[in-house]
Amino acid sequence: MSVVIAISNQKGGVSKTTTAFNLGACLALNHGKKVLLIDIDPQANLSEYLGYEPDGKPTMTGLIMNTCTNGVIQTNDVLSTVRHNEKTDVDYIPADINLASIETFMTTAISRETILKRILSDEVTYRYDFVLIDCLPSLSTLLINALAAADRVLIPVQTQKFSMDGLQALESLLEQIKNTINPKVNLLGILPTMSDRTTVSRNAVNALSKKYGEMMFRTAVSKSVEAAKSSETGIPLCACSGRLGKEYEQFTQEVLSKC
Ligand SMILES: Nc1ncnc2c1ncn2[C@@H]1O[C@H](COP(=O)(O)OP(=O)(O)O)[C@@H](O)[C@H]1O
Ligand SMILES: [Mg+2]
Repeated sequence: MSVVIAISNQKGGVSKTTTAFNLGACLALNHGKKVLLIDIDPQANLSEYLGYEPDGKPTMTGLIMNTCTNGVIQTNDVLSTVRHNEKTDVDYIPADINLASIETFMTTAISRETILKRILSDEVTYRYDFVLIDCLPSLSTLLINALAAADRVLIPVQTQKFSMDGLQALESLLEQIKNTINPKVNLLGILPTMSDRTTVSRNAVNALSKKYGEMMFRTAVSKSVEAAKSSETGIPLCACSGRLGKEYEQFTQEVLSKC
C-alpha cells in the first residue's frame, strides 16, 4: 500500500523542500522504498534540487491543465511525465514557474479541489511505497489539492520565534478537508527544523511539544550549512557523513514506524 504524504506549512523557508528531498532519499537509499516526489511549488526548488532541466515533456503544470480541461487524465499521460534522479534513486514529477498562473485556470474547473487526486490515482500510486508532495507556501487551491490527495500531512516547523503563527490556519483547513473531500487524511506529525542551542529555539521546541505532544517527532533537525551544500550539489544528506544525514535517517525511521 502506498502512502501519500503532503509536506506543508504556509510559511516559506521552514525546510519543506529540504525535508521532501531528504526524506525521499533516505526512504529510497537506506530503506529500499520506491518513492515518487511531486513538486507543486511554482518556485520549483525541489525540481532544481533534483537536477531537473526543461526536457520538453510536460511538468505538473501540463498535467493539471490537461486534467482541468478533460476532467480526467490517463494513467499513461501521468507516467510519461515521471523522471528519475540517480543520486537519490527517487522518481519525480517536476514543477515549473508556469504553475504560478495555474490557479486562475483551476478556478473554473469542475471539482477543482480534487485535480491532483485524479492525477495521483491508485493506478499511479500503487507503483510506489511513498508519494511525497512538496507544497507551496500559501493556503491556496494547490495546497487544498495536496491535502485532498494525501493520506498524511507532515508539517515542518522552524524552531524560531513566531514558529507557531499560522499553524492554526493550516490545521483548520486540514480539518475542513477531512470533514468534506478527504475523510481519510490525518496529521503525520510536526517536525522541528533548524534547531540550535539558542534559548529562542529551545523555547520554540518546548512550546510545540506542549501543544502537539505525541504528534511531535522526537527527532529535531539541526541548523547546519550541510543543508545548503546538499541542495547545491544535489547529493542527499544521508549520503554525506554529517550530522543532518543521521538526523534525517532517525526521522525517516520515525516516519516508517508511524506509517
Ligand atoms: N536544517 C537546516 N539548516 C540550515 N539551513 C537549512 C536547513 N534546512 C533548510 N535550510 C535552508 O533554508 C532555506 C529554506 O529551506 P527550504 O527547504 O527551501 O524551505 P521551504 O521549502 O519550506 O521554503 C534553504 O536555503 C535551505 O538550504
Ligand atoms: Mg519549498
